[in-house]
Formats: sequence, C-alpha cells, structure tokens
Amino acid sequence: MENMDGPRVTECECCPALVESRSRIVNGTGPEDADLLIVGEGPGEQEDEEGEPFVGRSGTQLDEKLRAHGIAREDVRITNCVRCRPPENRDPTKEELENCRGYLEREIELVDPALIMTVGKVPTEHLLERDVAVTKEAGSVVEHRIGGESRRVLISVHPAAMLYDRSQEETLDATVGEAATLIGADGADGGDGQSRLDSF
Ligand code: URA
Repeated sequence: MENMDGPRVTECECCPALVESRSRIVNGTGPEDADLLIVGEGPGEQEDEEGEPFVGRSGTQLDEKLRAHGIAREDVRITNCVRCRPPENRDPTKEELENCRGYLEREIELVDPALIMTVGKVPTEHLLERDVAVTKEAGSVVEHRIGGESRRVLISVHPAAMLYDRSQEETLDATVGEAATLIGADGADGGDGQSRLDSF
C-alpha cells in the first residue's frame, strides 16, 4: 500500500471525525516478526499523545499480566483496529473499522504471528466477523481467515475491564497464561523456544 511503510501507516485521511480528533496516527509497536500480536480497539488519550498503543492505564495492566506470565512487552507486537483516536474515546464506527482494516490485515500479513490475541469486544468481533460474548469466550482459541490466511486467534477480555470488575482479572490472567503456553514463553515448551502452536 502506497501510504504504508512496512506495517506503519504514514498518512491517511479516510475518516473525517478521526482526522479531526487525532493528534497523530498511532501505529503498532514491537518486533515485526513477533510470535504474539495483540490487537486492541483504538488509541485513547495517552496513546494519541505518545503515539504508541497501550501506554495508558490499560497498558500498565496489560504489561503486568504479560510479565507475570514470562512475556516481555518488548517481544510482543501491539496494535489496534483503528489507528486514530476517536473523539471522547467513543467506539470506532463500522465504517472507521472498515477504513482501517486493510492496514491491520497488512500488518498481520507482515508480522505473520503464531498467535493473535484480541483484547475486548470490538477487536474480537471485528477480526472474527461475528458477535462475540467476550467474557464467555475469553480464553478460547479459534481459527479464522484474515486477509486470505487462516489465523489463530485467542479471545481476551480488555485489560480496562478489570479496572471496574475485579473478577475479570482472573479471566485476563488465565488468558494471558494461555497465550504464554501457546507461544512457548512460559518455559513449558522444554526451553527450545519452539511455539506450541506447531502441534496445535
Ligand atoms: N485500549 C485499546 O484498545 N488500545 C489502546 O491502544 C489503548 C487502550
């Protein structure tokens, strides 16, 4: 895509409301060959300020959970369904999600992760193209075609959920633990670094 440099979007004015509300385009961060790709909804205030996904309160929660399961944030690729902050942190519209979809698909294609973890309802429904009761389905791994390739998607609750509902913390914890097992980050793979997904 001409307005992309690798997995980074360099310029885009597809969504007038988002162009108006953003300070910048917030691209994904982390290794371009990461085993794990985490997909959130869209940048919040802090992400918009710093130009990096998940650097606000949700990011702190997410980082802690990753660390607790032996995954360093630096080893993970983290991105969002939309790359520009929606006004008043509203959910992105269907149209905005669609406008940004090609960028996300391109990033997935380039990173080619062993596992995608969707955090929260918006990214899960967007990537799986169906309604999802995230709290019920959290922790399940599903295969879905994304951009013409079959991908493994682990459904997770959003880290912000545990800020207002402590019971969601266990769910997030178990799900990140599952991600660690699947990518072989928890030492349960015998230490050869081989992703367990090879035999999934
Ligand atoms: N929540 C998201 O879904 N994405 C971010 O980047 C930050 C918070």
